Amino acid sequence: MQLGFIGLGRMGANMVRRTVRDGHEIVAYNRTVEKAHELVDEEKAAGHTTLVAADTVAALVEQLAKPRAVWIMVPAGDATEAQIHELLEHLEPGDTIIDGGNTNFHDDVRRHAMLKEHGINYVDAGVSGGIWGLANGFCLMVGGDPEVVTPLEPIFRSLAPVDGYLHCGPVGSGHYVKMIHNGIEYGMMQAYAEGFEIMHASEYPLDLAAISDLWNHGSVVRSWLLELATDAFRKGGQDLSELKGWVADSGEGRWTVQEAIDRDVPAPIITLALQTRFRSRQDDSYGAKVLAALRNEFGGHAVKNS
Ligand SMILES: NC(=O)c1ccc[n+]([C@@H]2O[C@H](COP(=O)([O-])OP(=O)(O)OC[C@H]3O[C@@H](n4cnc5c(N)ncnc54)[C@H](OP(=O)(O)O)[C@@H]3O)[C@@H](O)[C@H]2O)c1
Repeated sequence: MQLGFIGLGRMGANMVRRTVRDGHEIVAYNRTVEKAHELVDEEKAAGHTTLVAADTVAALVEQLAKPRAVWIMVPAGDATEAQIHELLEHLEPGDTIIDGGNTNFHDDVRRHAMLKEHGINYVDAGVSGGIWGLANGFCLMVGGDPEVVTPLEPIFRSLAPVDGYLHCGPVGSGHYVKMIHNGIEYGMMQAYAEGFEIMHASEYPLDLAAISDLWNHGSVVRSWLLELATDAFRKGGQDLSELKGWVADSGEGRWTVQEAIDRDVPAPIITLALQTRFRSRQDDSYGAKVLAALRNEFGGHAVKNS
């Protein structure tokens, strides 16, 4: 089928590659226009001719047959919001916008209502798979009205591996499920990180690459994250000495914790995993200074000067 695609970053470019390689007709636009042309050239050289580049959003819309479907894959928040408003200037009633970024589900609900007033459909697609999605397929969690989602399924099925696509429910539910997925990811990664740190500190001379690989052969904790741990230890050495222990967070962990609070659901692991990332970004902890000062005040306990 035909699809407009906006945002050819790490995710978007691979998603376009995967759909084009499955025979879909894609019109692609990127803020840095050259990237769209480079991708067209690359795919043409590989014998895939159903991708064309558009230099503007207006040109992208012009090249699509009605009713149009346009997938947006840019940073969530202001960038996605601006892109939707730009598209809105060119789309017509009956057209559909699919937001594949890591958008907050509350924004989906608001946008769905806003776009409905213009007769434009809105679908939220949570995407997982990272930079490996081109080869392995992207796991897709989709939310939206059934009559809007169903016609888009040929695209979803090309992007996803077998059984890797689910229409989760009404609008917002796709990004909601993706948010919880990422919250779980925070907790899982934190548990692995702690286990490996204990082994790293152990008096046993443990080979962490070998252990992470071992655990992927029949153990209860086997996972793709462990495969990535093996790769990281093999590439960087198990001391990971080239890396600083500084960990960003991109929203979904916070939103998962907020949702747990809003629903009175205890979620201590995900909450602590998020807060451990905050701690990782402090060179020196003010809270720890207060602790040290208090212990010194009440008990004369030793402190270290900065
Ligand atoms: N990376 C992942 O593993 C992953 C997984 C699932 C979902 N996501 C979500 O997918 C979306 C894209 O992620 P990514 O990893 O592909 O990001 P990325 O590699 O940083 O690429 C960002 C893309 O968005 C464009 N862009 C950035 N700011 C823009 C703006 N203000 N207006 C218009 N276009 C803008 C960039 O254009 P230029 O080329 O001009 O910079 C680029 O095409 C995000 O919402 C992210 O949360 C990412």
